[in-house]
Amino acid sequence: MLRANDLAFAHPGQKRAYRFTLEAGRGEVTAISGASGSGKSTLLDLLAGFVQPKEGSLELDAQDLLPLPPEARPVSLLMQADNLFEHLSAQENALLGLPRGTSRDKGRQQVAEALNEVGLAGFESKLASTLSGGQKQRVALARTLLRDRPVLLLDEPFSALDDETRQTTRALVDELTRRHDWHTVLVSHHADDIAALANRHYRIVEGQLERV
Ligand SMILES: Nc1ncnc2c1ncn2[C@@H]1O[C@H](COP(=O)(O)OP(=O)(O)O)[C@@H](O)[C@H]1O
Ligand SMILES: [Mg+2]
Repeated sequence: MLRANDLAFAHPGQKRAYRFTLEAGRGEVTAISGASGSGKSTLLDLLAGFVQPKEGSLELDAQDLLPLPPEARPVSLLMQADNLFEHLSAQENALLGLPRGTSRDKGRQQVAEALNEVGLAGFESKLASTLSGGQKQRVALARTLLRDRPVLLLDEPFSALDDETRQTTRALVDELTRRHDWHTVLVSHHADDIAALANRHYRIVEGQLERV
């Protein structure tokens, strides 16, 4: 279980104070909704460690995450778009998920398996700039698979996709979350995404998370 308890934060110079309490289960999708500007991305920044809370706690199972810098947290983050280096191939982008020092052959083998798992077998040498929006999100998910961190943060990951691609990408997130036992935290303001995917749903209202 990922647990945030009374994580307190305010952006410098801003009046609104956030206090976030949530639980996100293993192998589950926890959805976060809220109006534009309500603090959804700020919440993900706190979980990822890009900003530090003034108070509160953040734990994954018994592990305290707050002392860890972003790169040491057991977390991957995927945005709406621009998750890939456009001038690199699908394989090179996915390889970035592997720890340094992974041998070339082993790395290529693992990338091939991950691309296969996201439905992109044979796309290794395609440049990211030539892929569709949905294919790019799949490559980013393949990289996440290779990073193998138990918490996946998704910030409006389907927003730039057309309806059909949105549904297949959504199904893939659902499947990967359950198969790999990720704690997936999905920010979305689309009721459809939440209805299709979420095991739990919180809404941000006036700086706090309300269970829906
Ligand atoms: N680095 C920052 N400094 C000051 N204010 C910020 C910063 N980042 C975001 N904000 C403000 O905090 C509020 C919440 O932003 P954000 O978390 O991005 O909302 P959401 O993702 O729900 O649209 C907004 O009013 C935004 O303008
Ligand atoms: Mg946002």
